[in-house]
Amino acid sequence: MKKGIIIQASSRSIGNTSGIVSFLQEQTGYDIVDLNTKQIGHFDYEFKNQDDDFNALFKDIVQHYDVIVFATPIYWYTMSGLLKVFIDRISDFLKIEKDFGRRLRGMQMGVVSCSDEDEVFDGFAMPFEESARYLGMHYKGHIHTWIEKKGISKEVKAKIKAFGDSLTTAQYTNNK
Ligand SMILES: Cc1cc2nc3c(=O)[nH]c(=O)nc-3n(C[C@H](O)[C@H](O)[C@H](O)COP(=O)(O)O)c2cc1C
Repeated sequence: MKKGIIIQASSRSIGNTSGIVSFLQEQTGYDIVDLNTKQIGHFDYEFKNQDDDFNALFKDIVQHYDVIVFATPIYWYTMSGLLKVFIDRISDFLKIEKDFGRRLRGMQMGVVSCSDEDEVFDGFAMPFEESARYLGMHYKGHIHTWIEKKGISKEVKAKIKAFGDSLTTAQYTNNK
């Protein structure tokens, strides 16, 4: 089975997205990293952030995992700021220490969004699809999830299970 990591990108560690992430973790056995607990600065062109938490985290991910699942709440129709900053910082590894950036090639990327309702606007997935293409990653798709007053509905659980299965049964080999 491929080794995967779920990058939880909510501005609260315990909330709706974390509920979805826990359920996905039960299905897949993937590890979780909570970006809300990390100190990760914005991208800057002078690479002044080299001592924050991003570099070690990124190197760990590309050396030890085959699958990355971005799990983000929908904030203002798009991914959370935490996740955007994380993805911006991948640029560091396309400019310096490029060998680590190249290790994304052949990895899988999946995306889980979370809001309060069954509605997601067209275009949400585009930055992920195009970023995966640019980075040479296999894009495994996006599912939208939501939390109801009673918790995760049967419908959403079924979506997460199917998505988890599609990630864990992927056929290709990533030769790390
Ligand atoms: C800053 C902010 C912006 C939001 N923008 C949207 C939005 O554009 N569309 C939407 O459906 N929900 C929006 N929501 C609701 C969240 O997507 C929803 O409550 C989500 O489940 C929160 O997950 P969390 O508990 O992990 O933060 C927003 C919430 C916040 C805090």
